Amino acid sequence: MLWIRSKSLLKEHVQGFRRQGKSIGLVPTMGYLHEGHEKLMQVARRENDVVVLSIFVNPTQFGPLEDFAAYPRDLARDRRVAEKSGVDLVFQPDKEEMYPTPLEVTVEAGRMETVLCGRSRPGHFRGVLTVVSKLFHLVEPDRAYFGQKDGQQLALIQKMVEDLDFPVEIVPVETVREEDGLAKSSRNVYLTEEERRVAPELYRALSWGKAHWQDALYTSDPARLVHEVEKRLQAVPLFRIDYVELVTYPDLKAVTELREDQTFMLAAAIYLGKARLIDNVLFGGVSERNR
Ligand code: PAJ
Repeated sequence: MLWIRSKSLLKEHVQGFRRQGKSIGLVPTMGYLHEGHEKLMQVARRENDVVVLSIFVNPTQFGPLEDFAAYPRDLARDRRVAEKSGVDLVFQPDKEEMYPTPLEVTVEAGRMETVLCGRSRPGHFRGVLTVVSKLFHLVEPDRAYFGQKDGQQLALIQKMVEDLDFPVEIVPVETVREEDGLAKSSRNVYLTEEERRVAPELYRALSWGKAHWQDALYTSDPARLVHEVEKRLQAVPLFRIDYVELVTYPDLKAVTELREDQTFMLAAAIYLGKARLIDNVLFGGVSERNR
């Protein structure tokens, strides 16, 4: 497995792969790899000749009061996980390599990046879309793999690729969970024992919403469904709700009317101790389309 820290060396290898006619699958991450990331690497391994994993804790997607400095890092462990997952090349640049000069030109999405997580994390998705564009140009992947866990991020990246004609196929991968339902996340390490015990209530509340959305369809009352889920989250003593929202998927528009042929995303973010946890469920339409 190659471990590369410079853009120029990465480019050389990418050109080599291309010359040999090899297909490239890219898995962008911020490291501290867990089974969610592993699933992305496994799917990429199945579908491509070469798997590139990027590890970069991207400063431009963190707000000034967010956890950039505290974000968990363990490169020695990441190396073992990547190797085990059959990754061919790890690209792990530092800040100076990725951003040698202050950023002036960025990728922005307007409406789609100001809803859901975008409301409490202004500028976050601009940072994500900008770094993902850079990675696409550097790695020139045939396919890139993203988790449904970050549903808004995935929808934004799909829209960016569509609107700006990036020559890459975006492959969505289903959310990997702990046995009790909690979505795997690098940020779960922030949880104390007590917080970890109640954390699965987030997915449980969203799952309740998914199980009952047909009722909302018949009563045509989407607001009530959201309210019921909110009530369940409010009942968990340690949770502080950031948002609970029902939107159309993947265009992330407010839902005024429920329709059987439309795909919806019910998404929530909660603060739990030092962590901010997000999760979502899809239903209706063609929601079972992940790898
Ligand atoms: P990170 O949080 O490290 O996640 C990397 C990829 O793993 C993302 O596509 C994310 O959706 C996916 N992922 C995380 N937890 C998952 C889970 N439980 N199940 C399935 N997939 C999961 O997301 C980022 O990094 C960054 O924003 C990035 C796209 C790398 C840009 O900096």
